[in-house]
Amino acid sequence: MRFTVAIDGPAAAGKGTISARVAAHFGFAHLDTGLIYRATGARVLAGEAPVSAAESLNPDDLARSDLRTAEVAQSASKVAAIPEVRAALVAFQKRFARREGGAVLDGRDIGTVICQEAEVKLFVTASDMVRAERRFLELSSKGHDVTREGVLHDLRERDKRDSEREAAPMVPAQDAVLLDTSELSIEEAVRQAIATVRDAMPKPGH
Ligand code: C5P
Repeated sequence: MRFTVAIDGPAAAGKGTISARVAAHFGFAHLDTGLIYRATGARVLAGEAPVSAAESLNPDDLARSDLRTAEVAQSASKVAAIPEVRAALVAFQKRFARREGGAVLDGRDIGTVICQEAEVKLFVTASDMVRAERRFLELSSKGHDVTREGVLHDLRERDKRDSEREAAPMVPAQDAVLLDTSELSIEEAVRQAIATVRDAMPKPGH
């Protein structure tokens, strides 16, 4: 069976957790496409040229433990605006989306570019303040030296760059279901996402 769940939305809206839980629930493979851009951004921070970094990414790059910093996130968002970088990363993501057995991909352009034919498209959002608070708690609990204001500023800067760029900007696909998690617990958000996917799945006997 080929069945793709595309989950897009801004930073820290809850995409990552929702995607991992939806994938586990249905036994689908999961790809966090932000990691690909983060891995490219990390190599650029180390001095490499963006396009050659994207073209030579390997599984070890994605397994690096230092990809979740604010600095890498900003670098990722900068390299992600370069059309040749995106072009170098498209084929892998497209193959992953249509793999046998079902796939969940989360990112910014999954429902609009990588898999327009996805059976389910979710656009996960939350207010700026809620997203900044969540990201602040996540980073400070891991020992990062961050402030609420700094995190909010970083998120807004990244959202602006991601949604205003020419190449594959972050916008909800026309047929995406919006899921605003501002007032939802993670359990409730996951429950709603799972229900949306279940409704779109082929029914036995049909
Ligand atoms: O989702 P995450 O915050 O890890 O993504 C890091 C950056 O990678 C984003 O700010 C965005 O610029 C870029 N990205 C993208 N397209 C995707 C996934 C991530 O441009 N599908």
